[in-house]
Amino acid sequence: MPVLRKLFPAEWDRYERHLLRLDPHSRLMRFAGNTSDAAITQRCRTLDHGRTVIVGCFVQGELRGAVEIAVDRTLWPRDAELAFSLEAPFQGLGLGAVLMERALTIVRNRRIRRIHMLCLHENRRMRALVRRFGGALTFDGGELLAVFDLPPPNHLSLAVEAMEDGAGAVGAWLSAIAPTERFAA
Ligand SMILES: CC(C)(COP(=O)(O)OP(=O)(O)OC[C@H]1O[C@@H](n2cnc3c(N)ncnc32)[C@H](O)[C@@H]1OP(=O)(O)O)[C@@H](O)C(=O)NCCC(=O)NCCS
Repeated sequence: MPVLRKLFPAEWDRYERHLLRLDPHSRLMRFAGNTSDAAITQRCRTLDHGRTVIVGCFVQGELRGAVEIAVDRTLWPRDAELAFSLEAPFQGLGLGAVLMERALTIVRNRRIRRIHMLCLHENRRMRALVRRFGGALTFDGGELLAVFDLPPPNHLSLAVEAMEDGAGAVGAWLSAIAPTERFAA
């Protein structure tokens, strides 16, 4: 079973290694352009702890997917940006949808009302995900801009995030004591 949980900044080096493992096509889709190893490393090492949340998807203890949530730099941010990544063997299994659902809850619970996301036109999976979760897609200089308008948080959305944090901690503990368990799609 994959385990989804927020990463602590102290383990963001695992996120860097995950991004470096992306095959060329996934890397192109993730960064909407060609990106070198050095650029990925530089980017990961300069991520702003104060405005970034990374939700990781662990399979057998290894980080295989993530959504990076970056909120804008104002004191009371109203906008956020999302970027998804799954290593090729873990694509097309529905994990992107699970990451999307988590990200929307987290962003909504921070009273952020709008999400922006750049996506290459040929990224059919991402386009399908955006549509499924109610985002609007528009052209922006050859790329697609996805925008989600979010409702304010409520008791349920706050409880869901708290439960998911708890489930992530328990899942991490269980996979540490049973690391050989197989991933069932
Ligand atoms: C884009 C990405 C996050 C999607 O996650 P995923 O787990 O692979 O996708 P899912 O299995 O959740 O499927 C998403 C949708 O695409 C559809 N889909 C799956 N395979 C597809 C394919 N080969 N062609 C077209 N659509 C496809 C699914 O039916 C689903 O649609 P639905 O939600 O309407 O049912 C993932 O593939 C990825 O990380 N790709 C590389 C990096 C990237 O593109 N990042 C996005 C930059 S923001």
